[in-house]
Amino acid sequence: MASMVETGSVSQERWSAVDRYIGDLLIGDDPALDAALQDSAAAGLPPIAVTPAQGKLLELLARVQGARTILELGTLGGYSTIWLARALPAGGRIVTLEANSRYAALARASIARAGLGEVVELRVGAALETLPQLAAEGAGPFDMIFIDADKGNYPGYFEWSLKLSRPGTLIVGDNVVRDGAILDPDAEDPSGGNETIKGVRRFYEMLAAESRVSATAIQTVGDKGYDGFALAIVGA
Ligand code: SAH
Ligand code: DHB
Ligand code: MG
Repeated sequence: MASMVETGSVSQERWSAVDRYIGDLLIGDDPALDAALQDSAAAGLPPIAVTPAQGKLLELLARVQGARTILELGTLGGYSTIWLARALPAGGRIVTLEANSRYAALARASIARAGLGEVVELRVGAALETLPQLAAEGAGPFDMIFIDADKGNYPGYFEWSLKLSRPGTLIVGDNVVRDGAILDPDAEDPSGGNETIKGVRRFYEMLAAESRVSATAIQTVGDKGYDGFALAIVGA
């Protein structure tokens, strides 16, 4: 979603124009992904999926990682799910968790249209309830985990991600900069209020304190404004 931040002469308008340039050249038209976004917009889902360039980054990260199993928290309309699922080799699997059953139904349709219905397992429910169920079933360890559900719960999601990891698992967290608002513990985020800010800040503190991970975060600008991704590798 476009932010109102302006940095000198470089504006949101320019970030969006560059995202279009990158998208046109390096991604282009993609019927299944384009239809997923169109149906999401038509159904009134919030326009907060990763951008095309970010989605392709997720796909490339999953391929670099050689991921055969991926866990995603926060499906929305299935846009990032499709990117991640495409990175999987034959026999690979992605489990994606979504609290909103209406979003989940739309995501299922878009994932099926992308030819990925057999690769994706979508579980409906609050992730803090579905994650323990997954663990109890003996799911995992996952090779890659993408955390992108409600930001206030990122600390809990990180704990469950570690339980569902192995040494070498790549954990990616979206939305860890929020226009720079994460600098102010009392800031109110447009999405999730102060809980979002508190959750993301605690997530950083856990990444810093957890001896089993090596982590960084990268600030991003583009069609979704000024935000960022955290990246962490689980060690021994
Ligand atoms: N990964 C998606 C965007 C996810 S937006 C993409 O890039 O295409 C965040 C999603 O998390 C929303 O669909 C929201 O309904 C979902 N969500 C919010 N709270 C949740 C919870 N407690 N458990 C699971 N999903 C949740
Ligand atoms: C917003 C963006 C996201 O990528 C997300 O996962 C949730 C909310 C937003 O900008 O509101
Ligand atoms: Mg996000």
